[in-house]
Amino acid sequence: AEVYRAGVLGRRPTIPSDLAELERRARRAMSPKAWAYVAGGAGNGATMRSNRAAFERRQLVPRMAAGHRQRDLSTTLLGQRLPSPLLLAPIGAAGLVRRGSDLMVARAAARLGTPYIVSNQGCSPMEDVARAMGGTPWWFQLYWSTDEDLVDSMLQRAEASGAAAVVVTVDTTMLGWRPRDLDLGSLPFSQGVGIAQYTSDPRFRQIVAERVDVAAAAGRDRDVEVTIGAVRSLLSISREHPGSWRDNLRSPVPRAAVETFLDIYSNPGLAWDHLATLPERTRLPVVVKGVLHPDDARRAVDLGAAGVVVSNHGGRQVDGAIASLDALAAVRSAVGGQTAVVLDSGVRSGADVVKALALGADAVALGRPYVYGLALDGQSGVRDVVANVVAELDLTLGLCGVGSVAEVGPDLLADAG
Ligand code: FNR
Repeated sequence: AEVYRAGVLGRRPTIPSDLAELERRARRAMSPKAWAYVAGGAGNGATMRSNRAAFERRQLVPRMAAGHRQRDLSTTLLGQRLPSPLLLAPIGAAGLVRRGSDLMVARAAARLGTPYIVSNQGCSPMEDVARAMGGTPWWFQLYWSTDEDLVDSMLQRAEASGAAAVVVTVDTTMLGWRPRDLDLGSLPFSQGVGIAQYTSDPRFRQIVAERVDVAAAAGRDRDVEVTIGAVRSLLSISREHPGSWRDNLRSPVPRAAVETFLDIYSNPGLAWDHLATLPERTRLPVVVKGVLHPDDARRAVDLGAAGVVVSNHGGRQVDGAIASLDALAAVRSAVGGQTAVVLDSGVRSGADVVKALALGADAVALGRPYVYGLALDGQSGVRDVVANVVAELDLTLGLCGVGSVAEVGPDLLADAG
């Protein structure tokens, strides 16, 4: 109501409510490399386009005069009451967009009471993000490392710093084919951005130190020099500079740490057996992110997952993959009503949220749009982008004759197929 009223009163917001305009302005505010990384997708962008087309193809059939003066947007997810069915998706290497990005996002999320899924490829240690979240729930997103001790270390840190869930992303065992980044030579980690969860991790430091020993034993003096430099820098990373350590470190030191990171950050051999070990390794509820096939969703639930995120990673992994909205209904029927189902990839408006709910999602996660808000106006930018989506969700429900999120069902869609 606040957002809308400001518009009626003629106030021009810093953050445009028109999404195309938001993108245009964000593009101008971002470096070409940051823009390519955030806006880009896999291959020729077919899945990114499908994500949008799937929302646009669906039509709502509003019902009139339902008598709901106010709407109840709240919902329960993994046993926690949320103000709206919206979460912030994990975004790695957001430090490319702004220094201190993850803390800005966390503060905006905390102000709104919107849960934030903190990326394994974050730019601030999760402990710092946790503090910025205050009492608002946050989930930790894990990429399964080739080093099992690092997996345990990350899980322990997430538990110790108060994560409400662990989200295991299964669609990025390798980075997708991203022509825009490749052509600019700017895959983000090449710049040492997005490795703060690692450099703040005791097990990661140990791995780097072990590399020193191996190089020394082999008499590779140059490697020893480089790796020792990396260890020193890791140990001296200043908490006041969480955004990027480019400024702290000089070449070739980052290279050694970045190479260590590239070797271990994700496991191309990830199998369901790995996921089966989670219940004995963490007491946090597990959410599996990146499922599109109903059998995979069922498999995840059989192995103890409390939820799944139906996602194609915003069209950044398999070009030509099914739109996540098109995969949603089958996943919901495969897992039944007890499993938390979150949808992401292509959500751009309140009306989109209603469509996802109608097809069986309990909540949606927002990705790129809040990064554009971040680029334009930092913490306030993130807040405004999310507030706009929530405001439109509220209006859309009201105008569709629906009194609450819980009431949204497939009957609201013109054709549920
Ligand atoms: C992502 N995504 C992502 N997912 C994840 O599990 N861990 C991560 O570190 C990242 N990093 C990341 C960076 C950037 C720049 C983008 C755009 C996306 C995927 C993200 O969580 C989510 O699935 C998509 O962004 C949702 O699609 P939309 O809303 O961007 O279309």
